Amino acid sequence: MCGIIAYTGAQPAAGILLQGLSRLEYRGYDSAGLCIWDGDCLQVRKKEGRISILTDFVGSHPAPGCCGISHTRWATHGAPTDANAHPHADASGKLCLVHNGVIENYSQIKARLVEKGHAFLSQTDSEVLAHLIGEKFASKDPTKAESLRLALMEALGEVSGTYGIALMHADFPGLLLGARRGSPLVVGIGQGEHFLASDVAPVVNYTREVIYLNDFDVVEITPSSHKVYSLVSQQAPFTVSKVEWDAQAAEKGDFPHYMLKEIFEQPTSVENVLRGRLDLANSTAKFGGLGMDHKALHEVSRVFITACGTALHAGKAGEYVIEDLARLPVETDFASEFRYRNSPLDQNTLVFVVSQSGETADTLAAMREVKSQGFKAYGICNVVGSTIARESDGGIFLHAGPEIGVAATKSFTSQAVVFTLLALLMGRNRGMSAFAGREVLEALQNLPRDIGRILETTDEIRKVAEKYAGAKSMLFLGRQANYPIAMEGALKLKEISYIHAEAYPSAELKHGVIALVSPELPTVVICPKDAVYEKNLSTIQEVKARKGPVIAVATEGDDHIAEVADDVIYVPRTHNAVQPILNAIPLQLFAYHIAVLLGCDVDKPRNLAKSVTVE
Ligand code: G6P
Repeated sequence: MCGIIAYTGAQPAAGILLQGLSRLEYRGYDSAGLCIWDGDCLQVRKKEGRISILTDFVGSHPAPGCCGISHTRWATHGAPTDANAHPHADASGKLCLVHNGVIENYSQIKARLVEKGHAFLSQTDSEVLAHLIGEKFASKDPTKAESLRLALMEALGEVSGTYGIALMHADFPGLLLGARRGSPLVVGIGQGEHFLASDVAPVVNYTREVIYLNDFDVVEITPSSHKVYSLVSQQAPFTVSKVEWDAQAAEKGDFPHYMLKEIFEQPTSVENVLRGRLDLANSTAKFGGLGMDHKALHEVSRVFITACGTALHAGKAGEYVIEDLARLPVETDFASEFRYRNSPLDQNTLVFVVSQSGETADTLAAMREVKSQGFKAYGICNVVGSTIARESDGGIFLHAGPEIGVAATKSFTSQAVVFTLLALLMGRNRGMSAFAGREVLEALQNLPRDIGRILETTDEIRKVAEKYAGAKSMLFLGRQANYPIAMEGALKLKEISYIHAEAYPSAELKHGVIALVSPELPTVVICPKDAVYEKNLSTIQEVKARKGPVIAVATEGDDHIAEVADDVIYVPRTHNAVQPILNAIPLQLFAYHIAVLLGCDVDKPRNLAKSVTVE
């Protein structure tokens, strides 16, 4: 949802900014632009479309210099055009900024500025912010760098909405200002160089020392210094953190796409999320970051889970496994719904907000809503230092490493594993036997190996994908805990192949959806050998009776299903509490192969952004 990278140091900025933008492209790819001080004035280059277009343009129209700001855009206000691309300048043309977020009162500010004679070149809210800061600066001592910071702070005092900003001025070479509210911004501290970025991915090539800025922080960086100020208080305390992973983790390596790399990383990411959390001696799970003892856990009478997109599907899978193992009522809801819903909570409701990025605006707002009602909220996040990770009352990190493909894969399985561990912990806490606990633990321990076995069948899954890649629409069916997996399978297909897909609980088929079934509509049925196996077989028969093609995701060794379904993708058998996690893997590969066959841009699907930091 727009990415920012800015650099000040001794190296040529253009290469660093362009390479950095490519690391942030998952945040939006409608247009890209940069601004570099060339020793005399500001050089702005911006282009509609992917970063590669900007890179070519900078190749033919070089922008030399060692200090600059840059941006990759996910359009909100104004179409994706060259004019609406960032950076945007103020009326003097000497001040340039890039912005991630939404200035909600921009039209009022713009009207006021237009009356004063300001002319605007774009339809964006961000350009209004540049003009507002420029106007404040014009009334101050123009020789002092402090004037620029004070102008920025005054202007931010007048805007409502969200922002991550990087700003520069032609009269202050080497100086960059940044500010954040609602949109992430990180300071990278190098040797004789500093960075501002939306996340650490573009910075880790140069340094692993970072400051995760807080809301209302304003930062001033030069090649050799960083100073943090606050919009709301005298002091702005900050900590310098060390990024856990290195630059290589954010590379594609030999894989053609990040998504495939991340699918294949799942044996490792699952191992990482399990590490240190299996309490074999007590046949239970343990979490350092949860901060809840036996008594506190025992007082929980209900669990509430909120998230968006794939993270919500992991939460839905969590709903089934927690209810099953811990016998606790669980509710899940879209974060965007919950935040406005006036849903009652109480002290004994354990609330989890789930987010890979830890920055999704709706999830963050849902968490703040819980906290504003006086209750605790626990985060399940991948990105350390993210806003949800920092503002939650405790939580669980996924340790999945950077997920760059826009379609979430490894974060989903890691989130689902976390919920299984939580279900085990709460189950054991509420009377589940040690024997039953040990069975779940064993299945979890075997999960990386089982995932590895499914990954070995990727060529077979591709052959199935080849058969169905021409479909215009597909159904995904699953029952019980496999219903959320069907939802995730349908979402993966929609996101990256643009084939319409819908998920239903298998038995719902007969209540309307069956009217859609025809030879042109393939149906994926998740049909493991579980308590509802026979019921799922009946569903398959109902589809087949209407000449609908069926692809079954079934348990290894189930020969019978090959007689009823047109195609079968086999998955190793495991404990019922863990089986849905395994069943998700072939659906990721199925969607991936179809998207590749259709020539889609798998890592950067149209209209999407990985981290949606606007409401
Ligand atoms: C966007 C992405 C989805 C993602 C969702 C939640 O919509 O396109 O893939 O699942 O945000 O993201 P989060 O970072 O909060 O898990």
